[in-house]
Amino acid sequence: MKTEKNILELETVALLDDENAIEIIDQTLLPGRTELIRLRTAEEIWNAIYLLQVRGAPAIGVTAGFGIYLLTKLVNVPEESDIPEKHDENFAILEETFRKQKAYLDSSRPTAVNLSWALNRMEKVFLSMKENRALTMREVKERLRQEAEAIKEEDIDVCRRIGEYGLTLVKPGDGILTHCNAGKLCACRYGTATAPIYLGQERGYGFHVYADETRPLLQGARLTAYELASAGVDVTLLCDNMSASVMQAGKIQAVFVGCDRVAANGDTANKIGTSVVAAVAQHYGVPFYVCAPTATIDLSLKTGSEIPIEQRKPEEVTEMWYKERMAPKNIKVYNPAFDVTDHSLIAGIVTEFGIARAPYDESLREIFRQKEGDGV
Ligand code: MRU
Repeated sequence: MKTEKNILELETVALLDDENAIEIIDQTLLPGRTELIRLRTAEEIWNAIYLLQVRGAPAIGVTAGFGIYLLTKLVNVPEESDIPEKHDENFAILEETFRKQKAYLDSSRPTAVNLSWALNRMEKVFLSMKENRALTMREVKERLRQEAEAIKEEDIDVCRRIGEYGLTLVKPGDGILTHCNAGKLCACRYGTATAPIYLGQERGYGFHVYADETRPLLQGARLTAYELASAGVDVTLLCDNMSASVMQAGKIQAVFVGCDRVAANGDTANKIGTSVVAAVAQHYGVPFYVCAPTATIDLSLKTGSEIPIEQRKPEEVTEMWYKERMAPKNIKVYNPAFDVTDHSLIAGIVTEFGIARAPYDESLREIFRQKEGDGV
């Protein structure tokens, strides 16, 4: 469905429960066309994530949460029976589908941990109802819906809190560089790396934002530049090889990026090219900040070398966006979708529970202690 609405008025991901569908903005068509599409089957959800119609770590997590709910909801079981013996039988039917679809959705992209984080969270809630024989299957399904909606609602709050902490790191009039799209389009409202920018905009900070185009899929040019310009932010588009030039010229006071997975030592996977920006920033003395919801922090991995890095098709480099193929036929292509920024290049990791600083092994654990203390 085509729409003329401003991109900021649209929801990145929405559950249309009555229609048994997830509605997303097809991000592969932006900024030229704004189209909402509905995902109904497991294959449609898997493809939308794999093809980056919905993308960015938090949005992938939210889509997976809605996806596993809908696919479980659609299983045909007697919904009203409150006979305890029937609970076990019907629950087992739901469980078979839940497990199968969870594994399937989890295979759509490997790097952003929010995908498995959301699916595991849904599984925990689901399995907690297994022994509760007083529950009807309608109630089981309803509880799953509530959890999926909670993942989305929390994302909005988490991003806003990241924005507040991030804003303490910059001052009015600063130049901020960002890479890829960690904006509204990757999450549910403020984005992560753009949250300080949006809050600053609301408060008249007058930031000058520089958005890397982000080869090969151009999330910076197509998405970040688009959404920030739509919000009235002063944004300038850069090619990926220009960050040194703007930093050398003194135009950048801070870099904010999002992330797909942070290891326990602070090493951070984000869109390919991020680590180059971090190295350049260190050279020019510009602080490089990673904005990371705790859902993106994976303490089970000691270092970034354990983070699985997605490899994508060569055509994204050689053909996409060009009228004609621009590289020699049969040329070998290396197309990793992410790289890992070494923790030594990161000035701070901005979470919803505050800003972690080196040594990250300690500070990230402390962030999680606070999270547990908050009962989250
Ligand atoms: O391949 P993408 O577009 O899903 O990659 C997205 C990024 O690398 C983002 O920077 C990251 O997911 C953070 S979004 C808060």
